[in-house]
Amino acid sequence: MCGIIGYIGPKAVAPILLEGLKRMEYRGYDSAGVALLNGTGLQTRRAAGKIANLEAALASQPITGVVGIGHTRWATHGPPTERNAHPHRSGDESVAVVHNGIIENANTLRSALVELGYEFRSDTDTEILAHLIEELFDGSLEEAVIAALTKVEGTYGLAVVSSRDPGKIVAARKGSPLLIGIGVGENFLASDPSAVLAHTRNVVYLNDGDVAVIERDAYRVIDRHAATIPHTVDRIQWDLAEIERGGYDHFMLKEIFEQPMSVENTMRGRLILADGTAKLGGINLTHADLMNIDNVVITACGTSWHSALIGEMMIEELCRIPVEVEYASEFRYKNPIVTDRTLCIVISQSGETADTLAAMREAKRRGAKTLGLVNVVGSTIAREDDGGVYLHAGPEIGVASTKAFTSQVVALALFTLKLARKRDLSVVRGREIAQAMHGLPAQLAEVLASAPAIEAIAEEFKESTNFLYLGRGYNFPAALEGALKLKEISYIHAEGYPAAEMKHGPIALIDDRMPVVFVAPHDAVFDKVVSNIQEVRARHGRTIVITSRDEPALKGLIDYEIRIPETEDMLMPILSAVPLQLLAYYIAVKRGANVDQPRNLAKSVTVE
Ligand code: G6P
Repeated sequence: MCGIIGYIGPKAVAPILLEGLKRMEYRGYDSAGVALLNGTGLQTRRAAGKIANLEAALASQPITGVVGIGHTRWATHGPPTERNAHPHRSGDESVAVVHNGIIENANTLRSALVELGYEFRSDTDTEILAHLIEELFDGSLEEAVIAALTKVEGTYGLAVVSSRDPGKIVAARKGSPLLIGIGVGENFLASDPSAVLAHTRNVVYLNDGDVAVIERDAYRVIDRHAATIPHTVDRIQWDLAEIERGGYDHFMLKEIFEQPMSVENTMRGRLILADGTAKLGGINLTHADLMNIDNVVITACGTSWHSALIGEMMIEELCRIPVEVEYASEFRYKNPIVTDRTLCIVISQSGETADTLAAMREAKRRGAKTLGLVNVVGSTIAREDDGGVYLHAGPEIGVASTKAFTSQVVALALFTLKLARKRDLSVVRGREIAQAMHGLPAQLAEVLASAPAIEAIAEEFKESTNFLYLGRGYNFPAALEGALKLKEISYIHAEGYPAAEMKHGPIALIDDRMPVVFVAPHDAVFDKVVSNIQEVRARHGRTIVITSRDEPALKGLIDYEIRIPETEDMLMPILSAVPLQLLAYYIAVKRGANVDQPRNLAKSVTVE
């Protein structure tokens, strides 16, 4: 969602804040700002739009200081204007605040502050915090922040500086990620490890309820009584090169092309070919736990929800355990059937999605064991789950998820294999699946070689206004994911449907202007999909067919064909996802859309 950066140290502050903000621009990009403290007080620069606009504002009116905070915003309260951009200042200009999250009792607090004479200069909930901290200030910034937070309901990751207690940044976390970056003679604060990686690998991930005081040569993590509490220092595992574009036009394209490697990394050291199973060191489930699972609930949002649907089919097919997939936002407010014999699998690239985190906490509260399939090491879901499988896909910066999706499906396949082999799956069948998984990286490289052909198809369809994506069985979620990719980044309306279900509605839309993408590899339901392709052709729909063989049955039915190799049915979406990602990517680029930062979207949705 939004990004927060803070710096205190001897270097020029504004350039460090700007650089950190640029690294987090993928988290929010509708406005940005910085506030710096120097001997004469607080100075801020803010700008609507991309960080380049803030950079221009700083170039024309530079500011200097020894400590500073910055923010890149994804609007929740109030439109993305300069007036609503963070940092927000208190009435007497002594306090500046940047904030991620939502203050739920904003109206009550605002009215109380207006009664006390405070004038509001923005439409945001964050400004309340600035005034409240000013009001409660009594010599110590951390104490004022703590006092203010006792009055606040909602979620926050926040950073505060004040000219009345200079030489420190105070940070606090509840529901929105924050970390301290530890340097030598300098320290950092950020909502995302990528913002500090150029300076340090040593970080302290704050927990909900923590407050931190960051000074030039020291930092402290304190509780709500200002007492110091213990913390651990973690190392960021990623390399700088991994969070840079490395010669590609966009992060999304780089991440699509990384998939042979990211999928390999998800499997590395885990796939046991000889036994046809998987070794998963972090799941924290004993043999008895695995045998005692009565049902599985998988919860996630967005693209991760699509991989959950594939996981559902895998687990039901191979383990014969009932599985339910729930949107995290729905699950958390239901009265779900969860017992202590339920395994709740939580899938999240970022490990920070607010609804997914809340759903996991709810499942835990009801006694379920939770298993996180998470990409970002050290993220909140990864720290709070009972056990987990890290995706090891490397940082994903493009807002549209690509390599995380294929790694999620691989992680689900690894877990399914392990669980199925514990239960009824034969070693022979286990070996076949493991062998097929082993072959995926090379097959992904093969699929990527068709990128130029897919780009040519994109050229044909770049002006289309609607798309239908159809698939059956394991490739129905792939169709959903294909449609999601296209709408996210090209703004073309696209729907994914189970191919046969098309007859119950979407068929009414089909005419000679309607492109229909079929995900139709030669799998168990191939013949059925052929009938659906015929139905589309009979209505003059334009067919783009992702398939895996020269099939006589398809003769005359295909306008554009994309060929992918064959694997086990359950693994097929890993291969079919790639042409779908590339098609969406090239169409979006040809339409001039900002692929890495599509409008209104955010990489990590940390508000409900
Ligand atoms: C946002 C992102 C999607 C992502 C979804 C869930 O909507 O734009 O790409 O699939 O959140 O995120 P998570 O990090 O929990 O997988």
